[in-house]
Amino acid sequence: MIADRDPFFLPVDGFRQSRQREGQSVISFAHYDYLGLSTHPDVVMSAHRILDSLGPSVSASRMVGGERMLHGELEEELADFIGAEAAVTLVSGYLTNVTLLGHLMSSSDLILYDELCHNSIVVGTRAARCDSRSFAHNDLSDLRRKLSAIRGRYKRCLIVVEGLYSMDGDVADLPELVTIKNEHDCWLMVDEAHSIGTLGSSGRGLCEHFNVDVREVDLIVGTLSKAFVSSGGFIAGHGAVIRWLRYTLPGFVFSVGLTPSVAASALSALRVLKREPSLTDLLKQKSKCFLQEAERLGLDTGPAIGVGVVPVLIRSEQAAFEASELLKQAGFYVPPIVRIGVPKEKPRLRFFISASHEDADISRALGLLRSNFVVGYDAAARSESV
Ligand SMILES: Cc1ncc(COP(=O)(O)O)c(C=O)c1O
Repeated sequence: MIADRDPFFLPVDGFRQSRQREGQSVISFAHYDYLGLSTHPDVVMSAHRILDSLGPSVSASRMVGGERMLHGELEEELADFIGAEAAVTLVSGYLTNVTLLGHLMSSSDLILYDELCHNSIVVGTRAARCDSRSFAHNDLSDLRRKLSAIRGRYKRCLIVVEGLYSMDGDVADLPELVTIKNEHDCWLMVDEAHSIGTLGSSGRGLCEHFNVDVREVDLIVGTLSKAFVSSGGFIAGHGAVIRWLRYTLPGFVFSVGLTPSVAASALSALRVLKREPSLTDLLKQKSKCFLQEAERLGLDTGPAIGVGVVPVLIRSEQAAFEASELLKQAGFYVPPIVRIGVPKEKPRLRFFISASHEDADISRALGLLRSNFVVGYDAAARSESV
């Protein structure tokens, strides 16, 4: 039976090779290569060149093992791109949130975070030695209520949100958040993992999307693993804060520096984006095509704004597994998202859209979902899953 097959940990190389042997293609909606840069010759070649010249690892924490010019270049260009004074990079985006949140606050402080924040933020708040509470997803009235009720008990308060939510594809209302943080004397941290390279007219993220001054956001964090097709995390903010973090942040001080070839591919991808900001327009065009087609077919895409990440809600977990398998048989890789990172009652197929997708493939994948009864998608299911 279809649903007995494990849709997770798919041996992707084998899947691709066997389809290609049969003259068929594989289209992935499972990877966050938003700008289609993972195969860009500059990105691939820069990693090759740096591997040849600097080797596979920096083999030490940068603090005691010394800096490579490449780290500095990447951090300066990232900060400049974002519009922040400075930035620092770490070996993983996940680690960045955990170590930063665990380090920043003390016992007299409070962290308030959106309930749909990524697991690395949730784990980071648990690692922090302070109180933390979640507020209802994108519900800023709930945030205000919580602040009015308890802010007075704490010395400092940090509000944490994401730029573009990775399971729902919706965004935080940044202008309103800035008003709230100023009214209640809080700090604001935005995780731009999925919004850097995707939101804003040139991919600079949530601030550009809303035309908000970057200095209103105290800490911008993100990853190099998504639009920048590499791996690693970064923190951008005020120069003095970043300087302090470079000497004190455990996940930076006590961890190896970013692998040179990894830093090189991220820097190269950033430079391609700076040179070709229209890549973000192309992504938006493809995403719009996806959203419009899904709407035309009566599929439920939840609150997604239609940039980069768009879920299609499915009426049951079983149906989500079946839909994923159906698409896989047709050469589309779209894993089911059930329970992990989403509420139990909202199973879905999550589509990462890329500037490199073809409109025809988007239509074909969505058409399969709609037309095949195996998904069992109907009006009743729709109201169940929203
Ligand atoms: C919002 C958010 N923050 C952090 C991370 C972790 O990033 P990485 O996978 O690059 O470690 C992710 C991963 O998907 C994410 O969605």
